[in-house]
Amino acid sequence: KSYSVGILGATGAVGTELLELLESRNFPVGELKLLASERSVGRSLRFKGEDLPVELVSDRTLENLDLVLASAGGSTSKTWAAVAVEKGAVVIDNSSAFRMNPEIPLVVPEVNPLAAANHKGIIANPNCTTILMTVAIWPLHQINPIKRIVVSTYQSASGAGAKAMAEVKTQASAILQGQQPVTEVLPYPLAFNLFPHNSALNNLGYCEEEMKMVNETRKIFNDQQIRITATCIRVPVLRAHSEAINLEFENPFSPDTAREILSHSPGVKLIEDWEKNYFPMPMEATSQDDVLVGRIRQDISHPCGLELWLSGDQIRKGAALNAVQIAELLVEKNLLKSAKR
Ligand code: A2P
Repeated sequence: KSYSVGILGATGAVGTELLELLESRNFPVGELKLLASERSVGRSLRFKGEDLPVELVSDRTLENLDLVLASAGGSTSKTWAAVAVEKGAVVIDNSSAFRMNPEIPLVVPEVNPLAAANHKGIIANPNCTTILMTVAIWPLHQINPIKRIVVSTYQSASGAGAKAMAEVKTQASAILQGQQPVTEVLPYPLAFNLFPHNSALNNLGYCEEEMKMVNETRKIFNDQQIRITATCIRVPVLRAHSEAINLEFENPFSPDTAREILSHSPGVKLIEDWEKNYFPMPMEATSQDDVLVGRIRQDISHPCGLELWLSGDQIRKGAALNAVQIAELLVEKNLLKSAKR
């Protein structure tokens, strides 16, 4: 059996990765529709050796689709996801529009695959930093419950889209030529710099990205008690995020036990060479499916604490790969069924 698939936001950083993953993972695609804004009409993208036209998303172009993978921003999803569902598709949405809606499952296949079964047409793909963190810490949480998480992120330009990635490169070359860096997509120069995540701040001083890590992790873990605090920083890396994570467990957790567990956890690759001081790096995580985890050590400030470090490809496992894995899960469990048709 094959499925008619639409990619909404096909020309973006995540969209082009979705296209590549559907091909390389041999997802059973029958017809494929590439959808974006009017800016992209006239362009084409390659899929399985064929050039497919990019079309404007509309009532008409959303007809007759079984699956829509959406990655075109929250407002585009709010406009079009319901239309796609009404026309018979299941939507896997990468934006933040539906993630905290209690009716809509928020799924990381390595963590809470069963939640997907309750979908009513839309499944939300979590925030990139949340996906990477939950994949790495869920196996530990299963053995010894986590009471508190303190996480600091080092987030790449890709989180702000393809245009932000291009902007960092342009800024870098401008600076190297002694010119002023230009900022159009990002609020401040990112090349040779870093800045706290530029999402909206709440009255407690936390930005949206930080609150996504708090709220989404609780929803994915189905644990409202777990205490989480986050500091999210954008760094001049192109497409993989890193995170320094401090975990406080109910009971002491030996680093060797954690290492043993993570060495055979799905979606995780342990990278540690203590002699060479060699640990996960964003450049090495780039284009890899697995979240690279390492530098696991006892927190010397707390008997039940562990420190760990990770790098993971933001566009891949942080976005497109997780969405395609959800789609594969739906196919496997016979859940790619319309709520409407
Ligand atoms: P377009 O290229 O036509 O602007 P990124 O996250 O890399 O910035 O990509 C965003 C994606 O979302 C692009 O494919 C972009 O298409 C698409 N997009 C943005 N706004 C809209 C919109 N209003 N309608 C449809 N697609 C949109």
